[in-house]
Amino acid sequence: MATKKSGGLAGIVAGDSAICTVGKEGKGLNYRGYSINDLAKNARFEEVAYLLIYGKLPNQAELAAYEKRLQSLRGLPAQLKSVLEQLPADAHPMDVLKTGCSALGSLEQEGQKHSQYDIADRLIAIFPSILLYWYHFSKSGERINTATDDRSVAGHFLHLLYGKKPNELQERAMNVSLVLYAEHEFNASTFVARSVASTMSDFYSCITAAIGALRGPLHGGANEAAMELIEQFKSPDEAEQGLIQMLDKKKLIMGFGHRVYSVCDPRNEAIKELSHELSTTVQDKILYPVSERIEQVMWRERKLFPNLDFYSASAYHFLGIPTAMFTPIFVVSRTSGWAAHIIEQRAANKLIRPTSNYIGPEPTAWLPMESRV
Ligand code: COA
Repeated sequence: MATKKSGGLAGIVAGDSAICTVGKEGKGLNYRGYSINDLAKNARFEEVAYLLIYGKLPNQAELAAYEKRLQSLRGLPAQLKSVLEQLPADAHPMDVLKTGCSALGSLEQEGQKHSQYDIADRLIAIFPSILLYWYHFSKSGERINTATDDRSVAGHFLHLLYGKKPNELQERAMNVSLVLYAEHEFNASTFVARSVASTMSDFYSCITAAIGALRGPLHGGANEAAMELIEQFKSPDEAEQGLIQMLDKKKLIMGFGHRVYSVCDPRNEAIKELSHELSTTVQDKILYPVSERIEQVMWRERKLFPNLDFYSASAYHFLGIPTAMFTPIFVVSRTSGWAAHIIEQRAANKLIRPTSNYIGPEPTAWLPMESRV
C-alpha cells in the first residue's frame, strides 16, 4: 500500500523509461543518450523523431527512406477534409488537432492495416496538413493541397502556412524548434498518453488525450501565454515596471520556471539565439529587447529562468506564425516523444492507477430527503 504523497507528483518516480533524461543535477537533457545541445546543432527533426520512435539514429539510407515516408503521409482523406471544413474559424487550433486526430482514428483504425509505428509516422506527417488545411479553409474557403514535396516537416509546415517555400533561416529555425520540443520524459501530457496506453486503449486515444493536456498554459500553452505577456509592453523599461507589478501581485509569469530544472532550461540557449537571429531579419526593435529585460528582471527578483516556451514565443512571432499556432507546433514535434512513450509503455505494460489520500467526511448515516438542508 503506497503511503508517500506529493503535490503534483513532484519528485515521484512513476516508472522506468529508456527514452530521455531530464534535469540530472538540476540541468541537462538527453534523448536516448544524445545531448540536446548536439541534437539542436546537428540533427534534422526527422532524425530525432526516428531516434525516439525507432530507438537509434538513422543511417543515411534509413533517414532518406524515413523522410520519403513522411512526405508520402501528408495527404488528407476526403472524410477528414469535410470534418475540418465544419470547424469554425474561431476554433482554437489545439481543438482542431484534437478533432483531426480523433477523426483519423475512425478512418485509419489501429489494427492489422495500421500498426502503432504507422500511426506515429502518419500523425507526425499529417498534423501540419490538418492544421493548415483548416486554417486556410476557415479563413478564405481555399482548399489547399497539403501533399507538398518539401523534404522536412519544418519546411512542409512553413510552406503550407506561407503559401510558398520558406527561406533557409526560416526552415532551420523551425527545425531546431521541433528538435527542442520533441521529448521531455514524464511531463504532464506524456504521462497522460502513457496512462491512456496503460488501459490498452488505441494509439489515437493516447495522442488525443495528450493534446488536451498539452493545451493548458502551465504546460504547452505557456508559449502562447508568453507571447501575450511580451506583446503588452512597448519598451524594456515599461516591461520592467509591469513585471514588478505583476510579481508584487503574485501573478505567474508564463515561460518561466520549471518543475524539474533548478538552474536553467538547457533548451533555452538554442532558442534564444534563434530568436535573436530572427529578430534582426525582421528589424525588430521591441520584442527581443523586451524579452531580454523580462529575463533579467525574473532572475534578479525571483531567481527564475526562462524555459523553452519563453523565447519560442518571439521566435515564432518573427517567423510570422499566428500566436494560436504556437502550441499546435509543439504537438507536431512532441508527437514523436509521445509515440515513443506509448510504444514503451505497451512493451512492458502495467495499468497506471495510483491511490489518493482521502480527505473527505468519515462514514456518515444516510440522510433522507426531508432531513437535508
Ligand atoms: N512566475 C512567478 N512565480 C513562479 C513561477 C512563474 N513562472 N514559477 C514558479 N513560481 C513561484 C511559485 O509561485 C512558487 O512560489 P511560492 O513558493 O512563493 O508559492 C515557487 O516559485 C515554486 O513554484 P511551484 O508552482 O511550486 O513550482 P511547480 O514545480 O509546481 O511549477 C511550473 C512549475 C512550470 C508549473 C511553474 O514554474 C509555472 O507555472 N510556470 C509558468 C508556466 C510555464 O511557463 N509553463 C511551461 C513549463 S515548461
